[in-house]
Amino acid sequence: MKAAVRTRYGPPDVVRIAQVDRPAARDGEVLVKVHATTVNRTDCGLRAARPFIYRPILGLTRPRRTVLGTEVAGEVEAVGPGVTSFRVGDRVFGFNGTSFGAHAEYLVTREHGMVATMPAGLTWEEAAAGTEGSHYALSSVRAAKVRGGQDVLVYGATGAIGSAAVQLLKGLGAQVTAVCDTANLELVKGLGADRVVDYTAEDFTRDTQRFDVVFDAVGKSSFGHCRRLLRPRGTYLSSDLGPLSQNPLLVLVTPLFRGRKVVFPFPRENQEMMSYLRRQLESGAFRPVIDRRYPLDEIVEAYRYVETGRKLGNVVVVVRP
Ligand SMILES: NC(=O)c1ccc[n+]([C@@H]2O[C@H](COP(=O)([O-])OP(=O)(O)OC[C@H]3O[C@@H](n4cnc5c(N)ncnc54)[C@H](OP(=O)(O)O)[C@@H]3O)[C@@H](O)[C@H]2O)c1
Repeated sequence: MKAAVRTRYGPPDVVRIAQVDRPAARDGEVLVKVHATTVNRTDCGLRAARPFIYRPILGLTRPRRTVLGTEVAGEVEAVGPGVTSFRVGDRVFGFNGTSFGAHAEYLVTREHGMVATMPAGLTWEEAAAGTEGSHYALSSVRAAKVRGGQDVLVYGATGAIGSAAVQLLKGLGAQVTAVCDTANLELVKGLGADRVVDYTAEDFTRDTQRFDVVFDAVGKSSFGHCRRLLRPRGTYLSSDLGPLSQNPLLVLVTPLFRGRKVVFPFPRENQEMMSYLRRQLESGAFRPVIDRRYPLDEIVEAYRYVETGRKLGNVVVVVRP
């Protein structure tokens, strides 16, 4: 089968299209014929082994797994022994954050991993773009225990995580203030934001409103800069480690003072979360934003674009046009 392969860490052009063996479904596994996948920031980090702490997990000098790709939408081609939840021909989608492999014509995934049947009315591309940003967004929102009626600010509301966060927060009944650039104010209002702040026209950290939660979904702020935006027992969330990789440490220290605190979840693959996201997609409460589409043969271009840090929502890779 055709796959996007990389055998060393590095920039986008370490990835090349090659013929590799098609995987087979073993006990409890499902073989998926991939229709669409994405290139996301996780793929970029894994490809380059950045941050360096990825290396003990991925392979110290070279990657153990050569095919990346965490998000998938496709058809079940075969099921391994013991699989009862899926049948050949089912349209499925999912997230494979530990074994990857979606940048290929076929992928094997665990029946009890983050995989579900696709809701009716969703395209392959929408389904493929529906699990990574939303999974990180939901993990963060849940870690902060956001409740209906709370005021939440989302910084970076046009990324994959931010655009999902705005929609999922509205689904929970939060009042959402979203920060984005001038060109995307209308798009972000359309995602449900109650108020939008143009970061090119004003410094959002000087805003006069106070929030229960500030969610930096683009990883470009710090707790120090956002602290004044928080109510006395408010929570600062970030999708990134912070400029000095300080967020995991602040998670341990800030609760000791019983005031404003930092929460930094390490998202786990969780079937309940997959069911929740599926319901949000099915009801239309969540629709992934799709920016560009690339054929699998042009995946290196997709990587280059994602690495600009300027994508709008998600970048889809079409494996079977
Ligand atoms: N914790 C994890 O495991 C995990 C997993 C995946 C990703 N991440 C991190 O999460 C972050 C977000 O990833 P993503 O894929 O959602 O999006 P992304 O590709 O990082 O963000 C793209 C969006 O951010 C906007 N943006 C760029 N600079 C901005 C700024 N200074 N203020 C406000 N918006 C800005 C861009 O719009 P404009 O250019 O129009 O402003 C663009 O729409 C990344 O830092 C990534 O490394 C973490």
